[in-house]
Amino acid sequence: MSFDVLLKGGSLADGSTADIAISGTKIAAIEPAIEAEAGQIIDISGNLVSAPFVDPHFHMDATLSYGIPRINQSGTLLEGIALWGELKPQLTHQAVKQRALDYCDWAVSMGLLAIRTHVDVCDDRLLAAEALIEVRKEVADYIDLQLVAFPQDGLYRSPNALDNTLRALDLGLDVVGGIPHFERTMEDGRRSVTELCEIAQQRGLQVDMHCDETDDPQSRHIEQLAYETQRLGLQGRVAGSHLTSMHSMDNYYVSKLLPLIAEAGVSAIPNPLINITIQGRHDTYPKRRGMTRVPEMLAHGIRVGWGQDCVLDPWYPLGTADMLDVAFMGLHVAQMTSPAEMQHCYDMVTNQNAAIMNLDDYGLQVGKKASLVVLDAGNPIEAIRLRPERLLVMAKGKVVARRDRQDTELSLPGRPSHVNRRHRTP
Ligand code: FE2
Repeated sequence: MSFDVLLKGGSLADGSTADIAISGTKIAAIEPAIEAEAGQIIDISGNLVSAPFVDPHFHMDATLSYGIPRINQSGTLLEGIALWGELKPQLTHQAVKQRALDYCDWAVSMGLLAIRTHVDVCDDRLLAAEALIEVRKEVADYIDLQLVAFPQDGLYRSPNALDNTLRALDLGLDVVGGIPHFERTMEDGRRSVTELCEIAQQRGLQVDMHCDETDDPQSRHIEQLAYETQRLGLQGRVAGSHLTSMHSMDNYYVSKLLPLIAEAGVSAIPNPLINITIQGRHDTYPKRRGMTRVPEMLAHGIRVGWGQDCVLDPWYPLGTADMLDVAFMGLHVAQMTSPAEMQHCYDMVTNQNAAIMNLDDYGLQVGKKASLVVLDAGNPIEAIRLRPERLLVMAKGKVVARRDRQDTELSLPGRPSHVNRRHRTP
């Protein structure tokens, strides 16, 4: 028996150790010890190996634009939206495409190989949609890119948004987006959820809405999203992104709402780096955290994944395409500090996010595509603690990124000569 690649001695997320054999683009075997010939044998002993990171919520049309034409001084969502409005007329096909491709390079270096990005379709030129369709094709060998038709200025609030959403879907965007809390009235928001879910049902598409990204506890569009998911038979294909109003909702109402979300099979995508930064800005003290109720949703059996949302754009001045940064922040803000909860936070940025995106060829399992990441950490919890080097990234059986473990040299009398940069446990 001969394989193309044999990875020796990796630590799996469940704590076991295994060799992983790859033939062509697929995982051929995962066993405690594989003795076989291989074109390439790579020793990864002691290092965590998992399926790649997945980001179910991003804005690739805006990424890496920080400072163009100016920075967001107040740090609020509303100034970010105004700033995006200033930037939009200046966008060019080439600039959007170049920034997206640059971001995809960062993503690969971080082991992030599947991204769902919202694409603003309110500009009649549909320039970002066309640019990102090209990017989706160019990166297809190493990144699964899902494009959401996102009427970012409001389906009814922006003059041609409905028509543009349909045109963008005709061009080949994958998912139907929306932003009900940004419509002019609660009633318009409710109608937008209904109309967009019907469009998704007619076209056989998934739905992912920015939903209730506000501190207003009366913003309850998630209720309508769950209702329409039930009514139209879209279970398992709908996600509500952000859901930050739930943080501020009345507890009794939430006790009714969570079972409805669970029953409808609607997934939730909180974006902790952004929600903790942008929400609560109108508060004095106590200041709300503005993140949705993650442990409570998990306890009700609702699938929840962590999303990145923004990197260096009108809404967020930081970011590195590292889903471990996202998991780290989410763990803190949601106070998910038990071993099982921390372990689950790693699962949220890998398997749970893949399930939300309905990526059926994903996973560190025999027969699935051979895409994976090897980290300078011993287990998922250590990976979140350290946010360490990605030592090896493989996409469909090919090594696409590699780097050495980084140590720091020490000059201390009577002490070791070097220490692992991020203090990995022995
Ligand atoms: Fe977003």
